[in-house]
Amino acid sequence: MKIGFFDSGIGGISVLTEAVSRIPDQEWLFDADTDHVPYGEKTTAEIAHYTTENARFLLSEGAEAIVVACNTATAAGIRLLREMTQVPVIGMEPAVKPAVELTDASGKKKRILVTATPVTLREAKLKDLIGRVDPEHRVDLLPLPGLVTLAEREAFDSQEARSYLTEALTDVSADDYAALVLGCTHFVYFKPLFREILGPEVRLIDGNIGTVRRLADVCGLPILKGPEAAAQEKPEITWYQSGRRVTDAETLAFYGRLQERIRGMGESGSL
Ligand code: DGL
Repeated sequence: MKIGFFDSGIGGISVLTEAVSRIPDQEWLFDADTDHVPYGEKTTAEIAHYTTENARFLLSEGAEAIVVACNTATAAGIRLLREMTQVPVIGMEPAVKPAVELTDASGKKKRILVTATPVTLREAKLKDLIGRVDPEHRVDLLPLPGLVTLAEREAFDSQEARSYLTEALTDVSADDYAALVLGCTHFVYFKPLFREILGPEVRLIDGNIGTVRRLADVCGLPILKGPEAAAQEKPEITWYQSGRRVTDAETLAFYGRLQERIRGMGESGSL
């Protein structure tokens, strides 16, 4: 099956990496909308427009299923996108439900911090989700738009990223918070930095593996467990930037490093 992913930029490669190792024998397309990154501070109408344009392009390349590997594009544009096509469309939303369930199960009734772009945090989709799954009002919201541009510059371990995140998380400690949700696919690359700043006790939860499970489920595809997935041959991925095929060695090497970074996070990278 030909499966098309898109994001505003590199964030979605974190989900794609999980998908290609867990779902064998498919054809993969990835479009990073580099002409319009970042999405997270644009209007809902603009993002909805880019969302449908990206999907239209992937469909024109033969995609038989679309993964919106971006929480922001999902929040702003997935309804319009689903009206536009009959193929399966898998979106992403901050993993609030798993966070509530996990922290309930651990018996720690502490707070949960949901980080995402300002658009994801203000859209009705997230408010509805929180209304459904957080009856005890344990969820707090924190926008981290600065991480998107830092990620695009591959500045994951930079002093700039460390200062930005340390400042943003000043009031967040394991005394009060049981979990932090990474509600933007760009944030997943910064897991080691979140861990360093927050310490070992705060659970870091992203939506990547949940999205991959949903993709497999909706498309009727088999899904491999962790160790089998790690042993998978790395399949071909066809890369695009805003609909233009990527063939230059420098960008391909960059995308290779991003996949390595995600694989290097192992199981904990895909809670
Ligand atoms: N990666 C996107 C997400 O998951 C947003 C990045 C952006 O602001 O462009 O929300």
